[in-house]
Amino acid sequence: MTIHVKNNIHWVGQRDWEVQDFHGTEYKITKGTSYNSYLIREEKTVLIDTVDHRFSQQFIQNLEMEIDLKSIDFIVINHAEEDHSGALSALMEKIPTTPIYCTEAAIDSIVGHHHHPEWDFKTVKTGDNIDIGNGKQLVFVEAPMLHWPDSMMTYLTGDAVLFSNDAFGQHYCDERLFNDEVDQNELMEQCLRYYSNILTPFSSLVTAKIKEVLSFNLPVDMIATSHGIVWRDNPVQIIEQYLEWAGDYQEDRITIFYDSMSNNTRMMADAIAQGIHDVDPGVAVKVFNVSKHDKNEILANVFRSKGILVGSSTMNNVMMPKIAGMLEEITGLRFKAKKAAAFGSYGWNGGAVDRIHARLTDAGFETAVSLKAKWRPDGKAMRECREHGQNIAKLWAKKTLLNSVVAPVPVVEQPQVSQPVEQVVPDAVVNVQPGTQSAQAHSADCQCMVCTVCNWVYDPAKGEPNQDIEPGTVWSDVPDYFLCPECHLGKDVFVEYKG
Ligand code: FEO
Repeated sequence: MTIHVKNNIHWVGQRDWEVQDFHGTEYKITKGTSYNSYLIREEKTVLIDTVDHRFSQQFIQNLEMEIDLKSIDFIVINHAEEDHSGALSALMEKIPTTPIYCTEAAIDSIVGHHHHPEWDFKTVKTGDNIDIGNGKQLVFVEAPMLHWPDSMMTYLTGDAVLFSNDAFGQHYCDERLFNDEVDQNELMEQCLRYYSNILTPFSSLVTAKIKEVLSFNLPVDMIATSHGIVWRDNPVQIIEQYLEWAGDYQEDRITIFYDSMSNNTRMMADAIAQGIHDVDPGVAVKVFNVSKHDKNEILANVFRSKGILVGSSTMNNVMMPKIAGMLEEITGLRFKAKKAAAFGSYGWNGGAVDRIHARLTDAGFETAVSLKAKWRPDGKAMRECREHGQNIAKLWAKKTLLNSVVAPVPVVEQPQVSQPVEQVVPDAVVNVQPGTQSAQAHSADCQCMVCTVCNWVYDPAKGEPNQDIEPGTVWSDVPDYFLCPECHLGKDVFVEYKG
């Protein structure tokens, strides 16, 4: 199958609806992908890139239905990674003397993968061009580290099409080829996922390369990527979006991710999240369990965030392995201008939290005070977690929070010992919101219990009919299966209500 792109350019790539993993299991693909190859037929016939090696035979069969392979005058390989040059071995078996235009670095990686140093490589540099007839030229632009040292882009004059390879692409599959044809939300979601998980480390290079290309003052009518769609409707939009993403991008968002052995660190995460929301309802707070959620979605959220909180139970005096893996990934992605803090529960030592704090600092985050809770957080510890969230919200606020309204955190005495090792001292007074559920009229000796996480109040006089707890049921008779109707945590996060 071929798809007409523009004038004498056709797409001759391969769709891959089935693929789920990329870069080993590093990148989880949720919407398929495509490996885009393009055939240009002017006075010269040129093939730009090939497809993933797993589709070599289909690629050649498809190409042979379109043209006599021997009519290909030369091949341009913009990038040697196997998803683009993978079919080269099979193709060169058919046309072994066809010249291959690529960067000098690409010769090393192509030979490294295909083991054919005898192929007729033609080295090109930025600004080099080649006449393909009919008044058109191919102009080459080196783009090292976008995505490998060998990467380059190729520009076709006359048609004003930029073959950008990985840049501006996305792992996204649709039978429709052009950006204006597909679901815009899906498309931009996949663009962000791709940028944040693959290109973030190279953001400074992205900015410099885009400025260099713009300085050529070349018209760009289309950007033909090597994954996903072709940008034909306002292609500048993705260039502008890349410039924004490459500029230490962040939204008013905080991402919390954790792993939890016994649900204790998860309880802390929930309370911290609610504390942030208490103080700054405008900030988007997202909470993920790394054992259950999509890793790449978590990383995309980190990319979008102004700050992150990373939690882990302590196990053998270190953090849980999935958190260690995430921190390694975050270090490699080299996020800039973001804040971070560590938290977690522990039993007899709290080594995990200290190690997370150190790793976050080493990764370039501006770290705030950590928070530890000993064993399962009781009511007092949950209150401290929530206060920690409130303080983090103030420390990381993008705007003055003069009018922030804070839900009351009940002051109670707890028989158990909870030991947050450090607390952030708030700079501003936390205002108590009148009229909330826990501030409603109760007698001093009422038997009510309040959830320390969400402030929902259990009133024995009312019971909880939705859980078959009859009016008049005192707290001690409330069964252990009871869950707070608001936040779905158990009895142990409830404390006596003291109005
Ligand atoms: Fe799509 Fe860097 O390969």
